[in-house]
Amino acid sequence: MTTPRTLRILSGVQPSGKLHLGNYFGAMQQHIALQHEGDAFYFIADYHALTTVQDRTRLAELVRDVALDYLALGLDPQRAAFFRQSDVPEVCELTWLLATVTPMGLLERATSYKDKLARGLAPRSGLFFYPVLMAADILAYDSDVVPVGKDQVQHLEMARDMADAFNGAYATEVFRRPAARLAARAEVVPGTDGQKMSKSYGNTIGIFDEGKALKTAVMSIKTDSRGVEEPKDPESCNVYLLYRLVAEPAEAEAMAQALQRGGYGYGDAKKALLAAIDARFGAARERRRALAADPAGLEEVLRAGGRRARAVAQQTLARAREAVGMSGRPVTP
Ligand code: TRP
Repeated sequence: MTTPRTLRILSGVQPSGKLHLGNYFGAMQQHIALQHEGDAFYFIADYHALTTVQDRTRLAELVRDVALDYLALGLDPQRAAFFRQSDVPEVCELTWLLATVTPMGLLERATSYKDKLARGLAPRSGLFFYPVLMAADILAYDSDVVPVGKDQVQHLEMARDMADAFNGAYATEVFRRPAARLAARAEVVPGTDGQKMSKSYGNTIGIFDEGKALKTAVMSIKTDSRGVEEPKDPESCNVYLLYRLVAEPAEAEAMAQALQRGGYGYGDAKKALLAAIDARFGAARERRRALAADPAGLEEVLRAGGRRARAVAQQTLARAREAVGMSGRPVTP
C-alpha cells in the first residue's frame, strides 16, 4: 500500500546572529550536503526566536542574515524548500493539538528549558512550550530525518513521544516518527579559547568575517608557549583542530607533520589557517554580497519555499484535525 517515497529531511535554524565556524561545521554544512539526498525542508525558526528576541527590527535583521548565510553557503532553494517558519502558521495550530496530549512531565524534563532559566532567561510559557512547537515543525512535514546538533537530540525524542501520544490517543497513524541524525563532527569545533565554539562564550570566528576582523580572531586563538623550534602535538593545538576542518585533508596532514617535526610555529599555523578560511569561504562572501543587494529577490525565494512547505503542512493538519473529530478544513473567509 505504501509506495516508497523520497526521504524527507527537515531542520530548523533559530536565527540568533552572526553564524560562526561552529555553526557551519556543526550543522549548516550537513544541511547543505543533505539537500542532495532527498526532499529537504529547511526553515528559519522565527516563532521560536520570539522566545528570546522581542524587537521587530532586530528580528527581521536576524531572519534576513541567516537566510543570506545559508543561500551564500550553497543552500539551493530550487532543491530544498527554504522558508520562514511563520509563513506556515499551521504549525501553531498543530502545536495546540499536540499540547493537548503532551504530559507536563515530558516538558518538565527538558534540559534546554532548565539551561535557559539557569542562563537568566525569564520563565515564560512560550519558552516552556518550545519543544511542542518544535515537535509540530517536525511532524507537520512528515519528516524522516532531522539533522540536528547534540543539544537538540532530547527535543527530537520529545517529538517522537508526542507523535506516539497523539497516534495512541486517537488510534491513528497521523504522524510519522522521525529519526535524529547527528552532525558527525558537531561537538569538536573549538573556539579561540579552546572551549566549544559558542556565541555565549565569545570565542567565535564568524563564517563571513574577513580582513582585519578575521585576522584578529585567528591571531587570538589560544596556544601553549612552545617555541618555534619545539615539536608540538597537533591534537592539542586549537589552530590545527580548526585548520583540519577548514583545509583539504592533505593540507591538514602536512600541518600535523610540520607541528610534530618542530621548526614550525603557532604563528605559521595561524597564517595558514587564515589563508585556508579565505580560500574556503571567499566565494561565499561574494555571493552573500550579491544576494544582500537584492532584498526583493530574497523575499521571493523565502515566499516560494513557504508555499511549498505550507502545502504539505496543510495536509498533515487536515489529517490531525479529522483524527480529533474536527473538520479537516477550516472555513475560509
Ligand atoms: N531548536 C532548534 C535549534 O535551536 C531549531 C529548531 C526549531 C528545529 N524547530 C526545529 C530544529 C525543528 C530541527 C527541527 O537549533
